Amino acid sequence: MKGIVFTEFLEMIEDKFGYALVDQLLEESDLPSGGIYTAIGTYNHAEISTLVKLLSQKTNMAESDLLRSYGQYMFSAFTRSYRPFVDRAASAFDLLSSVQHYIHVEVRKLYPDAELPNFTIDQPSANHLCMQYTSERKLSDFAHGLIEGCLAHFGERATIVKTNLVEDGSQVLFDIVKS
Ligand code: HEM
Repeated sequence: MKGIVFTEFLEMIEDKFGYALVDQLLEESDLPSGGIYTAIGTYNHAEISTLVKLLSQKTNMAESDLLRSYGQYMFSAFTRSYRPFVDRAASAFDLLSSVQHYIHVEVRKLYPDAELPNFTIDQPSANHLCMQYTSERKLSDFAHGLIEGCLAHFGERATIVKTNLVEDGSQVLFDIVKS
């Protein structure tokens, strides 16, 4: 998993809870990387689960809520670090429909070792988008937050219904209906 996933996660914790907690997490989590991440480096994705688990214990917040908040935060980070990908889209659905065949394809060109999910997209009508997420990393709560962050960026409102298609969370359907 690319370093940006970790650096932004630690930044979110600092913003929301203060640096002392970041320091405590890194000290107690005993990560193989030592918690030293560079944006372009690659690290074991299990480290994000370790950090989320520990953060959940410290804050008494559910892991799923923390990952979802992190997805929202990350979308804002993308609007800064990857502005051209975001500006190219005219609406939230426009961007969400282009993640699989454009955005993540470009990400893979920049970082050949990126670990990206697979999305199957279906748009039954102008206000209705279905995204099927598949990834062995099981980060659908993070995807949920990214979708919410994307809608917020474009100033759009929608109802998102998330359904696990496989019990372990490796396949998840997002049914998004604009209001
Ligand atoms: C400008 C927009 C976007 C950019 C630049 C971008 C880029 C990236 C990057 C760099 C990673 C990390 C890859 C790695 O660690 O190896 C990633 C992972 C991921 N992206 Fe995107 N992404 C964007 C939009 C989205 C959106 C809108 C969604 C959800 C609908 C999404 C879903 C995910 C998920 C869930 C992962 C975690 C990996 C996994 O689940 O297997 N991305 N993306």
